[in-house]
Amino acid sequence: MSALTLSSSSAATLRADAVVVGVAKNGSSGKAGRAAKAAVVLAPGAEAVDKAYGGKLAATLETLGASGGEGEVTKLPAPASGVKAPLVVAVGLGEVAGGQEPYDAEVLRRAAGAAARALAGSKKAAFALPVEDAEAVAAIAEGALLGAYSFTAYRGKDNGGKDGGKQDGKSSKDASAPLAEIALVGAKPRDKAHKAAVDRALVVAEEVHRARDLINTPANGLDPKTFASEARSAAKNFGLTFEVLDEKALAKGGYGGILGVGNGSAQPPRLVRIGWSHPKAKKSLALVGKGITYDSGGISLKPAGHNETMKCDMSGAAAVFAAVVAAARLGLRANVTGWLALAENMPSGSATRPGDVLTMYNGKTVEVLNTDAEGRLVLADALTRASEEEPDAIVDVATLTGAMVLALGNRTFGIMANDDEFRTALHEAAEEAGEDAWPMPLPGHLRKSFDSPVADIANIGERMGGGLLAGLFLKEFVPEGTPWAHLDIAGPAFNESGPFGYTPKGGTGSAVRTLVRLVERTVEGD
Ligand code: BES
Ligand code: MN
Ligand code: ZN
Repeated sequence: MSALTLSSSSAATLRADAVVVGVAKNGSSGKAGRAAKAAVVLAPGAEAVDKAYGGKLAATLETLGASGGEGEVTKLPAPASGVKAPLVVAVGLGEVAGGQEPYDAEVLRRAAGAAARALAGSKKAAFALPVEDAEAVAAIAEGALLGAYSFTAYRGKDNGGKDGGKQDGKSSKDASAPLAEIALVGAKPRDKAHKAAVDRALVVAEEVHRARDLINTPANGLDPKTFASEARSAAKNFGLTFEVLDEKALAKGGYGGILGVGNGSAQPPRLVRIGWSHPKAKKSLALVGKGITYDSGGISLKPAGHNETMKCDMSGAAAVFAAVVAAARLGLRANVTGWLALAENMPSGSATRPGDVLTMYNGKTVEVLNTDAEGRLVLADALTRASEEEPDAIVDVATLTGAMVLALGNRTFGIMANDDEFRTALHEAAEEAGEDAWPMPLPGHLRKSFDSPVADIANIGERMGGGLLAGLFLKEFVPEGTPWAHLDIAGPAFNESGPFGYTPKGGTGSAVRTLVRLVERTVEGD
């Protein structure tokens, strides 16, 4: 991961490849009758750099066509003297009303991320963005670190891979390498709150990167067994407990859901328990992740066009894993247990057939009418197992339904719950973390469409409201009285379009930051 330093030097004198400044749309109302107001204004932090341009940086940016809009990146050469770095990068911060209000944390996070992405291949950049308080320091640090990401494990050495350096013979930069060093200008190295903000950002970003790496790893490089061993080694490194049930133990325990999904694959399923416990913890939280390392649909095979990105179907388990490790590394005063329900959904002679009946871990029978509705089957067993330990609350995270993507789009995850207060807590945690989420209902009248003529319940119901139906199915496996929330991250887990803000193409690490925030809130609330 990129290095991060707090720098007390001026942005003008810092030795770096680039200086990043903020530029905003001027939203303040100019006096009537006066000449047209400037369209863009510099954000606080840019003063030293502006001075080197003779106070004309905003005007210069405007000449170059900069509007100050969010996500906009404008590069310009540094003036002949006065700024040590050769390059100035102006990132848009959106509209400011008179420049008085503090910038929104998420706006800063995205801008820092966009700048870090624009500087891929560079060694060091000084970020001179507005750092009003520790919250702003945290946001800029997090955004820059999250933007400085690349996945090169499978690239050849001439293409940004392991010992690679150069994209081609001509360029001295490796554009596929993330920005190596981030210096935060204006943040105070001796300020405790600033220091804490940066320490937290480093852990959170590294854990989001952990989830992204797992998601981006193709299914022939990550099966349930290798995922479990990744969890084992992280548990060892960071002082967590680790247990794993292999296919024999799953059979012995009666985990019909996990086995029923995994039995079509040559790679057997696993259920992992990874736990962080704090000696002074008062609250316990169980996190359950859908970990389908590849979802072909099984015998209800997905058509071409719907399976190319299905290595991402373990994004829930990746988020849970990363969040538990983050809780441990941050030393959060809570007990957090992660349950990773790992299986590969494949068609074969040993695969579950549409019409088969599975006996789940809690004893309920499920008629599998569609083998592509597999996530709810592995989660059901993991939810039952997780609730045996009587945690104070349970959250599951899953790339569960295409229907949720239709409903909320590619950047927002849905939150369903059996408890209004807990759903709100998750929504607030997401908001505080800078993740887009929206509450969705679990209408009881939809439950009857799961009725099966042969089993206790079928695994699919009516077509409409598919995301809510999946949530209702899971609800059946959570004991009444235990607050439970379900995050359907099928939309935001994997970014198939271009990168934006601090979000790369491919695995995004969706829900990691929300879960970390939820654990922090749990600690704050007791
Ligand atoms: N993994 C998919 C859901 C998914 C879709 C994730 C798009 C990411 C992007 C899930 O297992 C699935 O196949 N769901 C089915 C359920 C249906 C058969 C009831 C779906 O959404 O079509
Ligand atoms: Mn599926
Ligand atoms: Zn799936």
